[in-house]
Order: sequence, then structure tokens, then C-alpha cells
Amino acid sequence: MDAELLLATVLGVPRARLLTLGDVPAEAAARFEALVGQRADRVPLQHLTGRAPFRYLELAVGPGVFVPRPETEQLAGWALEQLAGLAEPAVVDLGAGSGAIALSLAHEHPGARVTAVERDPGAIEWTRHNAAVRAAAGDGPVEVLAGDMTDPALLRELDGTVDLVVSNPPYVPDGARVPREVADHDPPLALWGGPDGLDVVRGLLVTAARLLRPGGRLGIEHADAQGSALPALVRAHGAFTDVEDHPDLAGRPRFTTARRR
Ligand SMILES: C[S@@+](CC[C@H](N)C(=O)[O-])C[C@H]1O[C@@H](n2cnc3c(N)ncnc32)[C@H](O)[C@@H]1O
Repeated sequence: MDAELLLATVLGVPRARLLTLGDVPAEAAARFEALVGQRADRVPLQHLTGRAPFRYLELAVGPGVFVPRPETEQLAGWALEQLAGLAEPAVVDLGAGSGAIALSLAHEHPGARVTAVERDPGAIEWTRHNAAVRAAAGDGPVEVLAGDMTDPALLRELDGTVDLVVSNPPYVPDGARVPREVADHDPPLALWGGPDGLDVVRGLLVTAARLLRPGGRLGIEHADAQGSALPALVRAHGAFTDVEDHPDLAGRPRFTTARRR
């Protein structure tokens, strides 16, 4: 599959077109071989194609930004269900990276007032780029804000008014073994979450409790080993009710949701 996608990228055709392809020109074959070599050296496929699919969008990605994962599409889907019936809901995506979640919500729920917060100066260039591309394509504007999701002063003006806070935060426990594609190519700030992986989440919960209106919804992605620890943390915070955990398509615990009291 990766080889086919790389060849399709080199030739500038959809993957399905490879079935009816004649000869591959020598120059394209050489470029293809070079890309296969990089992929064999564990450079992520999405860095080589420069694109990552996410729900209905295709996002630009590359060095400096986290490659959006298919698991996160479910968290975005849950978030969209919470927005149903709300004409102009206020939404905050904490740790936006490529903008996968924020831009999907703006695309699939026209009228949503979405703010995307990102701390990493390298990653936010990608957030801004993808947000500009989607706005030019006709989606509602997404406000991209450089900031720390654990900062008590973040978005103070929205305190108590936000309908939905959603986040795929860094949650990998420090020192955990991850594939080379991840260790060598995803930005460290996107991955590591302290000794139990939940350091950033602790600050995130304080911010979410402050931003959400009563009844507002919270959704947080987590590692498959955190299916008990994260809901317990949300319950222990005290500001949330209806705490639930949700599996991904492989049946592994993947994200926790809750409602602001
Ligand atoms: C796992 S990535 C998720 C990116 C994107 N939301 C997605 O689902 O593909 C986590 C993102 O949070 C950002 N981040 C990490 N710590 C942060 C903080 N304290 N405040 C804001 N953003 C942060 C990282 O730079 C990274 O872009």
C-alpha cells in the first residue's frame, strides 16, 4: 500500500489509476526508488507524500508537526455529535497540530466558532497553513492561537461560555518504546506526557473546567493503557459529570468524555 501510494504521488495520479498504467518513465522510477528507500528507513509515509487524510479533509503535514491518526477521527465524530442542533457553538481544540480536529469540526459543522490552540512554534505553522487552505476552500474561519493549554490565562474571555472542548494531547509516558516513525519524526512536544503520560492532561482539565459552560462537553484522547486512569482523573477533578470512556475501532480504550457540571 505504501509503495503504491508513493508511486501514485510521484506520477501525480490517484492510486486506483496504477491498475491501468503503462510504463513508468525512468526519471519517475528513480524518484520512486528514492522514496521507497526513505520509507524503508522509517520516514513516515505522510512526510513523503506531504499529505495526511483525516475524515473528509486532506491536510498538509511534514517535519515539525504530528501526523494525524485514524483513531482520532472517532473523537472528532463524537465531538460533531455533541454539536448537533447548535447553530453557532463555541469550540476549542487544545493542541491542534495539523488542525485535524479543529478544521474537521469547522468543515462538518458550518457555523461553529472554532479556536485551535497550539504551543509548538514549528507545529503552529502547519495549523495556520491548513486553516488558510480550508478557509480559501470555503469552510468557516478557524482562529489559530499560539498558547499553552495549561496556562490559567488562556482564552480568559471565553470563560464559562464554551460548548465543547476537545483535545488529543501529548499522552505517551516518558521513556515508552514507540516505533521509529514516531520517535524520530513526530515532534517531542506532541508525544511525551511525563512519567504517567498525564501531566499535560492535568493542566488541560483545569482549563477545560474554566472554559466550558454548565452542560458543555469535554472529549480527550488517551493511550490504550489509560482507559481507567484518565476517566479516574476526570472524575477526581470534581467539575465534571457523565464521565465515560470509548473504545477505538480495534476495541482499545481510546478517548474519555464528560459533561461540565
Ligand atoms: C498528539 S498531538 C495532536 C495534534 C492534533 N490535534 C491531532 O489530533 O492530530 C498534540 C499536540 O499538542 C501540542 N501541545 C503539546 N503540549 C501543549 C500545550 N501545553 N499547549 C498547547 N499545545 C500543546 C503539540 O505540539 C501537538 O501539536
